[in-house]
Amino acid sequence: MYINFWYPIIRSEDLAMDTPEKVKVLGCNLVVFRDENGDAAVLSDTCVHRGGSLGGAWSAGPNVPRIVDGRVVCPYHGWEFGGDGACKHIPSIGYDSKPPARAKVDSYPVEERYGIVFAFLGDLPEEERPPLLEVEEYDDPNWRANTVLTLDINYYYERSIENALDPAHNEFVHPTHGFTAMNRETYHVREYDTEDNAQGWGMWFMHRFDAPPLKEENWGKTRTEAGDLWAGGGTYGPNTVITHINPTPEMGFRQYFFEQPIDETHTRIFFLNMRNFMLDPKHDGPIHARNKEIAKQDIDIMEHVYPTQTPISNTKEVLMPADKAIVAYREWLTKFDDAGWRVDIDEFNRRNGKATAFAIPSPARRESKNWVVEAVPLVGDRAERKLSAVN
Ligand code: FES
Ligand SMILES: [Fe+2]
Repeated sequence: MYINFWYPIIRSEDLAMDTPEKVKVLGCNLVVFRDENGDAAVLSDTCVHRGGSLGGAWSAGPNVPRIVDGRVVCPYHGWEFGGDGACKHIPSIGYDSKPPARAKVDSYPVEERYGIVFAFLGDLPEEERPPLLEVEEYDDPNWRANTVLTLDINYYYERSIENALDPAHNEFVHPTHGFTAMNRETYHVREYDTEDNAQGWGMWFMHRFDAPPLKEENWGKTRTEAGDLWAGGGTYGPNTVITHINPTPEMGFRQYFFEQPIDETHTRIFFLNMRNFMLDPKHDGPIHARNKEIAKQDIDIMEHVYPTQTPISNTKEVLMPADKAIVAYREWLTKFDDAGWRVDIDEFNRRNGKATAFAIPSPARRESKNWVVEAVPLVGDRAERKLSAVN
């Protein structure tokens, strides 16, 4: 898990005006809420008074508002925090008294796009931040977006990203794709090359499959002959994977998986599916249903993969040329390691939630001191992640 990237927090449609939501990302609790203009704010959830959960359970009843003039109210003693993270009121000293400077929590940069509230979880100043991924097709009338589907999985997000980059699993995991009548005489995964993603911050590859005939019910189009299918994709940052599937040269799916690492063993995937055919909204439902079915096939396999995290060295697995895309992803992770952005999970687990609360450091930590909640521990020296060549 890495700080200093954009992470999906919640779907726009799931965030009401009057209720904050508590979300865990990178092992840390966050609260997300809308201010009086409807703009989303994302703060560290731990109240600096005595550890109340800003987005947690509320006992005051429906007559006491949880959000007052765009400020989230702590359910424990009513401290009010603005979207900038500063505490504006402390009821116990009187609403007219000024809270001390230390009464503040981390506030993260937010962008709400593609039906998702994203937050930049890290402390990089704006000019150094990787931008939020541009979904080029999103406003293009030739493409239709399904509403964002969320998928909750009980495994580590890096294993999930690697699975999406894997051209050798379809014939074994996805009977829906029609590949199962594999010809043992001819089957193999063609060689492919990886390169850097055009938007930077990740890798890219495309690969030619021998595709089975197209079925009308799946694709809105029939092709009785088997043929070539180009598919592939790439990564953006540690937690976003993009898949391109071209059943024919004219037809395309563009799938964006914005992954939310909850902790080491839980991930929520925000899945945006774009298509340039079957544009009528009546196809949205069946496409969702098919994507859920395909996701379930992956989940059933991935929940049993061991170890649960990607190994620290590629020598701990026997990687084949078909795994090249996965190796390229791991090389990018190593760059993020070298930048010093990786959370030290072992140290985090040793102390988190006992006598210590942690927060992901926000950009304001570079400008002011006096932060009450400790920043998550980061791994300084990443030398131990040694990558070897593919076998
Ligand atoms: S713990 Fe939040 S106001 Fe006391
Ligand atoms: Fe899959």
